Order: sequence, then structure tokens, then C-alpha cells
Amino acid sequence: MDLIPAPSRSHDASPDLPPYVLTDTTALLAAPGTEGVARVLRTTVGAATGFELPPGEGGIVLALDSALATEAYRLTVDAHGIGITGGSAAGVFWGAQTLRQLLGPAAYRKAPVAGAAWAVAQTTIEDEPRFGWRGVMLDVARHFMPKDGVLRYLDLLAAHKLNVLHLHLTDDQGWRVEIKRYPRLTEVGAWRARTKVGLRESPLWDERPHGGYYTQDDIREIVAYAADRHITVVPEIDIPGHSQAAIAAYPELGNTDVIDTTTLPVLSSWGVNPNVLAPTDGTLRFYEDVLDELLELFPSPFFHIGGDECPKEQWKASATAQTRIKELDLADEDELQSSIIRHFDRWLAGRGRRLIGWDEILEGGLAPGAAVSSWRGYAGGIAAAQAGHDVVMCPETHVYLDWRQSDRDDEPIPIAHVRTLEDVYRFEPVPDELTPDEAAHVIGAQANIWTETADSARAVDYLAFPRLVAFAEVAWSQLPAPADRDYDGFDARMAAHYARLDALGVEYRRPGGPLPWQQRPGVIGRPIDGPPPIV
Ligand code: ACM
Repeated sequence: MDLIPAPSRSHDASPDLPPYVLTDTTALLAAPGTEGVARVLRTTVGAATGFELPPGEGGIVLALDSALATEAYRLTVDAHGIGITGGSAAGVFWGAQTLRQLLGPAAYRKAPVAGAAWAVAQTTIEDEPRFGWRGVMLDVARHFMPKDGVLRYLDLLAAHKLNVLHLHLTDDQGWRVEIKRYPRLTEVGAWRARTKVGLRESPLWDERPHGGYYTQDDIREIVAYAADRHITVVPEIDIPGHSQAAIAAYPELGNTDVIDTTTLPVLSSWGVNPNVLAPTDGTLRFYEDVLDELLELFPSPFFHIGGDECPKEQWKASATAQTRIKELDLADEDELQSSIIRHFDRWLAGRGRRLIGWDEILEGGLAPGAAVSSWRGYAGGIAAAQAGHDVVMCPETHVYLDWRQSDRDDEPIPIAHVRTLEDVYRFEPVPDELTPDEAAHVIGAQANIWTETADSARAVDYLAFPRLVAFAEVAWSQLPAPADRDYDGFDARMAAHYARLDALGVEYRRPGGPLPWQQRPGVIGRPIDGPPPIV
């Protein structure tokens, strides 16, 4: 059946038995609690087949079964119809995604095409995810992805049973969410005058202004669309580094006793940036106001506060920062950063939410309830899990999807270190070093799509696919240890999956390399044996 991600158990009936065939009289019966799944099935399978799937008996039946785990489902196909039972609406929804795969690639189109047959072979599938957090981070700060592109990505995540979209909403190069109390964040911070093309070392510029942001209604729409697909949107507001767009909008947020922050523009090139937030009460109040508005928009239990790559030079030179270190009786600038993270950990906890941050938040002491996105390899995640903190494993060494996909010269703007489809397939989120109790703190895995080198949805597609497909199987399926994984079997199933991606309109990287129009001749990346990328 070439299902991806591979289900836990499946039992195909004898091939002599007739398939169940969807027709224009097939009904869809949604038991209480599954109506939302029925609605999405009608908008997807209904659109692809052209069938109404009216409510009633005699076709597809959706139901809940409290004996199943929350996200687990059982899908049965016999001569009379299709049943999908889940431990919750989420489980039923993931079962519905499996049904789409069983219907064939045309089930992924938005309108019927000639020649599609809607026969589903008789089978029983029992399935449940390995991890509760199956995430993708989309960097919409470096290059903005307009709202429709985000909705499309939510569809792509759902089709792969991924359930967390981490939106990197702010960075040096742009602020991408409307904050009513601070309009300059988007008036000034949501666009830059021009953009470095390639990595920082490249001499090339795109002289067009670049920008865009989501209004609060856009965010409400994105969050609701995600919720219909059982996806949680986790917002990231990156502090205290990666904040120059905010400082450009409100110069008082920067270290005004060290540099003239009124001259700082929204950054147009890439890399780790010395212009970080001032560690003052004013800054804390400002970001509390920002988060106050975001709490209304994002129901996510987790809020991501960034915390990565905050150079401490300006704090070392700042009398204000040094006074703050003394006042708070802190040892150094790392502890000063920790005090900011701890502040927001308490602040979020007081409002019923949890802080998550990049693994630098471990430096100088981790806030008590905080969770960690382990990106600089596994070390941060291991340390955090051993200290009893929850961890999302997203090591750059394995699942940074901006890294080059092969050693070919024609990879578009290649960032060093090859990470092939097979490398991602052999990514193991739980390192051997952890005891079973510690391993239970690895709540999931995440692939990160940074967009310095991806200036359009097409370029994002190229980086994300097909590697995100391998990642989805790693996050969902119960795979053996990396060396024992059946990559050839996965690759064989990919043959069927490419047809699904074609129907979805995904501009994935072909197994044979980039198509001519997916290449970026002349745009400098990093030599294959060069140092790691600056992201
Ligand atoms: C990161 O890649 N700076 C989290």
C-alpha cells in the first residue's frame, strides 16, 4: 500500500476480495466528536472525487473509541464500507489521512481529473504515533511566506501526520506579526530595503525591498485552519538576540549606551548579530505586552522565546547591563540572559503556558518549567532531559533542511554538510545516552526550515521535500535503530509518494538532482568541506 509514514500494524485481506469503491452515492457518517474530521474530509476527498459525501449510512463511518490512545486510529475497509475509529478526533483525522493515501494520488487534487478510480482494497490498519510533538519550524522572518503559503504548508503537514508548526515570527531581518500596541513593529520592522542573495560572504544583493506580515486576523485564520487539521501552531518571538527588526522599530529596546540604536535598520544580510536587546525592565515590559496580545491569538500550551545566538559584547560594554548584573546579584552575562528567560518562564507559567527555547537557554541555568529545542546537536537535549526538562530534538546535524541535499555542484545555494534523504531517514530523536526515564522527556522531534537561502515557497518546497517525508516517518513510525532501518523499503514506497506530492503540487527535489529551474547558478553557498553555516 506504500503508506508513509508506515503504520504500526496492517493486515491486508485476500486480494480475491472485492475492493470498496467510492461513488457519488457514498455517504459519510460522523459520530459525535468527529464532525470536524468529516468537514475536512469533504473539503479534501470530496473536492478530489467530486462526490458530496452526504451525511448518512452506507459508506464511510467515523467514530471515537476511548480504548484507543489519543492519536491512535483503526481503519477497516470491507466490501460494505470504510470505518475509521480514533482515540480522539485527532486519531480519526490521522486515519483519514491514511484513507487519502489508500485512495491513490488523485485524492490529493483539489478537483476531479479524468480516469481516477476510487477503489480501496480491503484491509485493517492499526496505527499510532511514536511522538506527540512531530514538528516543523518555518522561518517566515528571513523570507516572509504569505498567509496562503502557510495554509498550504499546514495541508502538507497534515498529509504527513505532522502536528506542530513552529513559526519563527521575528528575527533581525523582519518582524512578521501585527502587535496593536506597537504598530511600528510592522510599519518599520516588517520590511527591509534589500536582501543579501546567498550566504553572508556572497557579493550579490536583491535590491527589491522585501517584507510582509500577518495581521492578527491572519493569525486567527492560520491557527483555526491548523486546529481543524489537529496541528498546533507554536509562535516564536526570538529574544534577546536576533532582535534587530524590533530595535529598528523601537530603538529604546537596544543597548543605547553602547551604540546609536536609532541608526539600526532592519538587517538585510545574515549571520549572528551583535545588536541585541537591552536587558532592562523596559524591554521586559515591552515583550510582556507583545506576548499578552499573542496569548489571545495562539492557544498553544508552548510559547517559544528563542534564546539562541545572543552575543554578549554589548552587555559587557553597557553600564546599564553591568548595573543590572550587580543589582540582580548575577555572576555574568550568561546569567543575565538566564534571568530574562526565567522571567518569561514565570510570566508564561502564571498564564497557564510553558516556555520553550533554543538550547542556549541552558547556559547560566535553565528556567524550572522550560523545555528545550535541541539544535546544536544532541548535547543540549541530553543535558536538559537529564535535568528533567522536556526536549524537542531538532539537531542541525540531522534535520536542518536548509543544508545541502547532495554533494552536486548544482544544488541551489548549497550550505555545507550533505544531509540526504537517507540521512534524515536515519535520524534518531532519542540518543542512546538517555535512561528510559530521561528518554521520556524527549517529547518529540522537529525539522527546521531556515530561509536565508529560500526566497519563495518554491525554494522552500525544494528544501523541505522529500526530506520532510522521511522526517515524518521518523517522528510517527516505530522504526528500528538507525543502522537497521530499511531505507531501500522506504525509497521504494517513495515512488508512490512522489505521485502524491505531484498531485499536491509540491516542487520537491528529484532523486536525480535539481531541475534546471531549481538551480541558482552563480549564487555562492559554502564549500562542501567548509565550516558550518551561519544561520
Ligand atoms: C538556530 O539555528 N539559531 C536556532
